Amino acid sequence: MKILSKAGNELLLIAMKDDSAAKGDYLLIEDRGRSMVVQVYDEEYLSSQSLIEDIVKEEVVNASSAENLHDPLNIGSLSRLVRDARIFKAKIRAAVKEGRLASDVSWLPSRVESKVRKLAMKELDALLGRSGVYPIPLGQAGDEDFEIFAEDLDGKLTIITGKKESGKSHLSKLLVKTLVQHGAFVVVFDLNNEYGGLRWNRDGTQSPVHDRVMVLEPGKGLQLSLDYCGKAAVAGMLKNALDMPAASAREFFRIWDWLENKRTLGIEAIGNAVNTWNINELVRDALVSRYHVIQSSRLFSDAGGFRFEDAMKAGGAAMIVNMGEVSGTVRRMTVELVLSKIVDLLERKAIPPIFLVAEEAHLYIRETYWEDIVTRMRHFGVYTTFVTNQPDAISDGIYRQVDNIFLFNFTNDSDLDKISKVSLADSDTVRSIVRTLPQRQCLAIGRAVCDLPVVVKVAPAQVLALGETKKFFKK
Ligand SMILES: Nc1ncnc2c1ncn2[C@@H]1O[C@H](COP(=O)(O)OP(=O)(O)O)[C@@H](O)[C@H]1O
Ligand SMILES: [Mg+2]
Repeated sequence: MKILSKAGNELLLIAMKDDSAAKGDYLLIEDRGRSMVVQVYDEEYLSSQSLIEDIVKEEVVNASSAENLHDPLNIGSLSRLVRDARIFKAKIRAAVKEGRLASDVSWLPSRVESKVRKLAMKELDALLGRSGVYPIPLGQAGDEDFEIFAEDLDGKLTIITGKKESGKSHLSKLLVKTLVQHGAFVVVFDLNNEYGGLRWNRDGTQSPVHDRVMVLEPGKGLQLSLDYCGKAAVAGMLKNALDMPAASAREFFRIWDWLENKRTLGIEAIGNAVNTWNINELVRDALVSRYHVIQSSRLFSDAGGFRFEDAMKAGGAAMIVNMGEVSGTVRRMTVELVLSKIVDLLERKAIPPIFLVAEEAHLYIRETYWEDIVTRMRHFGVYTTFVTNQPDAISDGIYRQVDNIFLFNFTNDSDLDKISKVSLADSDTVRSIVRTLPQRQCLAIGRAVCDLPVVVKVAPAQVLALGETKKFFKK
């Protein structure tokens, strides 16, 4: 490979038959003691007008005469080589100074003298000084094993996006499993009831995290006592998930206080009180209708109930909130309660920081709440990973705070536009690479890869894959 030209931070390299590089590969350009790192992001034919005319002429000649052309100097094969030349478009990422990457690339490598070679991931990591204590093996980059470090997800906002069936949930399960193995606590809002599969291997035996993965279903494993939830969490739920008017909420908490004083606070006691309480009929209607939703959700129990701090024993745990089979209202109630309770516990330092994985969060979290989760909750110690196939469902305010993006394939132009504008890498790279990414491969961008985008083939999983759509026609 040789350098052909440079425009801005972009180099064009010419490649002959045997030179090969895939989109996303890193190359090292060495020129008399200096070197720079570039990344291939696109590949094209070498095309000039005269070359195209040549090709057309030859085709015309071939088509009109069956005889072999007289070519004693073997010019034909030479010109075929030229026609097969390819251009690699590459972005200049960094210079190498004293064995370390530096961002100032103010020199121009020689077209004649400089040598271009592929840079192995290991060499790149060494140049970057990318290392850590808690590795998360993701799969392969090129033909080398590739891992990121849990430290780079810790305290960070991560987005996993890509079109349907591209492998987002698979990657997210891999992250959850490894985080738990490293002793972290993870809460997952699961819309397809699929993360429960982390408990089992595909061959039916128990997975290494079997005992540390809890599946909580609203109304079944996940029932909370009113007392444990506290007034603030319930108030948030009434307001945000059940649209309870302020006047009715006030009455509700008058009843709450009254029962609490009598030490008989419970879901049934509230029901009785709502019916007999001396209030305006409109307010009573509002209370009764909400009360029925609350009761039928079975989210609250008077006896015992789930306690997050008890579930979070040393050694790590994943709490999977299965929301595949419950209604939208119950989803919103659940999310509201779980998040408020977790923030409450974190505020009181009753639990360590936790990782939150939210699948398709726009389906159960108000948009205004997202920013809250990201900014305020991050402050308390809730570190979120959003998983979505709708990049435009996430607001720009959130993209501005994102630390890591795992980008799977998008072919739809409007999705590509969106993601290339907001992602942490330059839009040429994102557009070109993401458009042609095969299923199960992603472009990792941001902190976890030290801001040098890497194409990763995500490893297959040993754990059971649940959550596949039920089909009528069996294969
Ligand atoms: N790296 C991978 N290796 C093996 N199977 C995978 C991989 N990634 C995804 N799959 C499988 O492909 C299907 C779709 O993946 P999934 O993660 O559910 O897609 P998404 O969440 O993006 O819609 C699933 O059946 C999953 O098990
Ligand atoms: Mg999914």
